[in-house]
Amino acid sequence: MAEHTRGIFNIPHLLRPIHYYIVSLTLILIIGSVQISAQSLSAAADLNKDGDMSPLMDTDDNIINAHGAGVLFHNGTYYLFGEIKKGNTWLVPDQVWECYRVPAGGVSCYSSKDLKTWKNEGVALATYPNSPVRELDTGRVLERPKVIYNSKTQKFVMWLHTDDKWYGDSKCGVAVSDSATGPYRFVGSVKPNGQMARDMTLFKDDDGRAYLIYASEKNATMHVCLLSDDYLAPTTRYKRILKNDNREAPAMFKSNGKYFLITSGCTGWSPNAARYAVGRHPLGPWLRYGNPCKGPGAGTTFQAQSTFVLPLDNKKDEFLFMADRWDKLDLESSTYLWIPFTMNKGQFFIRR
Ligand code: GAL
Repeated sequence: MAEHTRGIFNIPHLLRPIHYYIVSLTLILIIGSVQISAQSLSAAADLNKDGDMSPLMDTDDNIINAHGAGVLFHNGTYYLFGEIKKGNTWLVPDQVWECYRVPAGGVSCYSSKDLKTWKNEGVALATYPNSPVRELDTGRVLERPKVIYNSKTQKFVMWLHTDDKWYGDSKCGVAVSDSATGPYRFVGSVKPNGQMARDMTLFKDDDGRAYLIYASEKNATMHVCLLSDDYLAPTTRYKRILKNDNREAPAMFKSNGKYFLITSGCTGWSPNAARYAVGRHPLGPWLRYGNPCKGPGAGTTFQAQSTFVLPLDNKKDEFLFMADRWDKLDLESSTYLWIPFTMNKGQFFIRR
C-alpha cells in the first residue's frame, strides 16, 4: 500500500488539463475500490480482537458450537457448518496418543449475511445413540464437515471424516440435501480408491469440478481426489501430494489462478506450526513453502489448527483464515481463531 501511494503522488507537476482529468478519474476509481475492499476486510477484522473468537455467540445468545468448520457462501449468505462438541471429554484407553473424545454430536449449521451475526439453523446432520446408520452413532467420530453446492443437480453436498473411536476406520462420509441448512441425508462412507482418509476438506473450482483432500496413508501423505460430477463419489483420478510430510487439517483456496493449501502438522489436539503449498492445479504439482503465520505465536498457529480458508464476499484478494483452538481436556470448550488476510502478488501472511 505504501508503495502505491508513493507512485500516485509522483505525478509530474506540469500536467495538461486532460491529464489532470484522467489522473483524477483514476484516483477516484482507485480510492473507491480500496474503500470497498477495506470494508469487506474490516467486516471480518472487526469480528473480534486479534482474531480470537471467544466467545462466538449466535443470535439466541448461545455459544456457537461448530468445530473443524467450513463455510459455504451461497446466494449472498454464509453458511457455517461444524462439529457439535457437547458432553464430557474422556480419554479412549490403551492408546499411544492423547485420544480425547466427546460423543459425536452431529453437524451444526449457522447462517450469516456479514460474518458477525450468526443465526442457528439447527442440526444439519444428526447423530443418535445406537444409530442404525453406523456412521451416525454418537459413539463414533464425525469431524471436519464441509459443504459445497452442485449447480447441475441443485443439491448441497456435505463430506466429512467418519471414524470409529480409535480412528481405525479412516473413511469419508457423504450426505446430501435440497437446502443449504439441511437436514442432510447420509448417503454412505467410503475409503476413496481403497485409501485411508482422515482429516479432510473440500474444494470446488471455478469450472465446477470438486476435489476431496484428505490425510491418507496413516497421515503420512495427503491425497487429492476428483469427485464425480454430482459430487457424491470419488473418481479414480487422484494424486498423492506432500508425500511423507505428515500433514493434516487441510484448507485449500484459490487466488489468481493458483491453488493454495494450508495444513497443520500431526500432533493430535496440540497446536503446531502451519505450512502451506502452492499448486498449478488441485491435482498438483504442489510446491512446498513455509509457515504462512508470522509474528509472536506463529510457531503454534497462534495456539490453533487450520480448518478452512474463506474467500471474503467473493472479493479477489481477501480471505479469512479459520482455525480451531482445541481444549483437549474439555473439547466442548474449544474456541475459534478467525484471521483475515490479503493476498498480495501471490504472497500472503497470517498475522495477529
Ligand atoms: C487432530 C485432527 C482433529 C482430530 C484430532 C484428534 O490432529 O486435526 O480433527 O482428529 O486430531 O482426534
